[in-house]
Amino acid sequence: MSSQSPKTTPEHKKNGSKERFSSSGFILAAIGSSVGLGNLWKFPYITGKHGGAAFFLLFIICLIIVGLPILLAEMAIGRGGRGNASSSLFNLSGKKYWSFFGFLSVLTAFLIMSYYAVVAGWTLHYTVQSFSGILMKPGLDYKSVFTGFASGYMPIFWQAVVMLVSGWVIARGVSGGIEKFNKILIPGFLIILLILLTRSLTLPGAMEGVRFFLKPDFAKLDAESMLIALGHAFFSLSLGMGCMLTYGSYVDKKQSLGTATIAIGLGDLVYAFIAGLVIFPTVFSYGLQPSEGVGLAFMALPAAFTQMPFGALFGGLFFLLLAIAALTSAVSILEVPVAFAMHKWSWSRKKAAVVVSLVCFFVGIPAALSVGGVLGSFQPGGKTIFDWVDYVTAYVLMPVGGLVVTLFTGYAWKKAGDEVGLSGFWYRTWMILLRLIVPVLIVLVFLYSVGLLKV
Ligand code: PHE
Repeated sequence: MSSQSPKTTPEHKKNGSKERFSSSGFILAAIGSSVGLGNLWKFPYITGKHGGAAFFLLFIICLIIVGLPILLAEMAIGRGGRGNASSSLFNLSGKKYWSFFGFLSVLTAFLIMSYYAVVAGWTLHYTVQSFSGILMKPGLDYKSVFTGFASGYMPIFWQAVVMLVSGWVIARGVSGGIEKFNKILIPGFLIILLILLTRSLTLPGAMEGVRFFLKPDFAKLDAESMLIALGHAFFSLSLGMGCMLTYGSYVDKKQSLGTATIAIGLGDLVYAFIAGLVIFPTVFSYGLQPSEGVGLAFMALPAAFTQMPFGALFGGLFFLLLAIAALTSAVSILEVPVAFAMHKWSWSRKKAAVVVSLVCFFVGIPAALSVGGVLGSFQPGGKTIFDWVDYVTAYVLMPVGGLVVTLFTGYAWKKAGDEVGLSGFWYRTWMILLRLIVPVLIVLVFLYSVGLLKV
C-alpha cells in the first residue's frame, strides 16, 4: 500500500476547504456531536443493568482502548487529507479504492440522518407539549399518547423542522453556523442538565435511583457486557460514519489532536454520567420501572414529571435537553454528505445544504411513517423500515466504517504519526491498538450484534 501523499493532485486542490473552526469551537462542536441520545437514553440504562459502577469502569476502559484511538485517527485523516469522508482517504493514499470505502461512511451518515431527524423531531414535539402543559396531565397513559402521536402525520412536520434547522445551520458555514450553534447550545445544555440534576437528587427516595445506576456489581460483568460497552463507546463518540473526520478537516494545524481527543472523550463521559444521575432518581422516586430508549424518554419519564411539582417546567426542560442533544448531533451527521456534495460536484455550501437536506427529508419519510403509522404493518423480515435503517446503519455500516478508518491509519497511511504529533512509545501504542486490537474487537462486536456470535 502506498505511503506517499499526492498533495498536488487537482482533486486535492479542489477539495481543500478553507473553512476552519476556532480551537474551542471545534471541541464544542465535537462534544455536541458525541453527546446525543446515546448518552441520555441508552448509557444510563445499560450501566444500571450491567453492574453499575463496575460497568462504568469497563466502559471507560473501552473508551480508552477502542474509542479514543479511532477518534484520533478520524480527526487526523480529516485534517491531513483536508477533504470529505471519502476524498480525504484518497488525498492521503492516492488509491481510488480507499475513497470508495470512505464513501460508505457518507452513505451511512446520510441514512442515519434520514431517521435521526425523525427521532429528533419527536423530542421537539414533546418539548412543546410539555412546556404548554398538555402532556403533564394526571392520569394520562403515556404509552398510548406516544403511539397516538407516532402513528399520525405530525412526526413528518417535526422531522421537516429538524431538517430545516440543521440545513440552515450548515448552510451558514463552519464557523458562522456549526460553531456558533454549538457555542450557544452546549453551555445551555449544561445549565439545563445541572438544573435537572439538582431537582432529581433532592427528590424523596433519590438514593434508590443512584444505587441502581452506580452500585458496583462485578458479578454482572460478562462477555456480553464487554461487547455492549464496546459497541456503545463506538456509537457514543460518533465514530464510523465520517462525522469526526469531516469536522477534523476544518481543524487548524496548530490544534493538538491529542488534547482534543481527551477533551471530547471526557466531555462525552461526564455528560453520560450526569444523565444517569438525572434519570434514575427521577424514575425511582415515583416508583416507575427504568428502561431505555423510547420507553424511558417518552413513557416512563413523562409519568414521573407529571407527578412532580412544576412538572410541566421540569418535563419541558428535560425534552429540551434531549432536543439539544439530538440537534447538535444531527448537524454533525448532515455535514458529512453536505461536505461530500460540495466537493464532488463543486456545489456552493448553500446549494449542497439545501439539496441534501431536501433529499434526506424525503428519504426519511417512510421511516417516520413506519413507527405505528400507515407503513407500520410493512415489516419485511420482522422489522419496520425504521428498525431496518437503524439496524443496518448501527450494526453493519458503522462497524465497517470504523474498520476502514482503523485499517487505513494502521496500515495504509504511513505519515499518521506526523499528523497527530505522536512518536516513540505513544505512537507505537496507538499503532498496536489500530493494527491489531481495535480491528479484532470491532469484528467481535459486529458478529455479536448481527447474531453470529453468541456469548
Ligand atoms: N454520538 C451520538 C450519541 O451518543 C450519536 C451519533 C452517532 C451522533 C453518530 C453522530 C454520529 O447519541
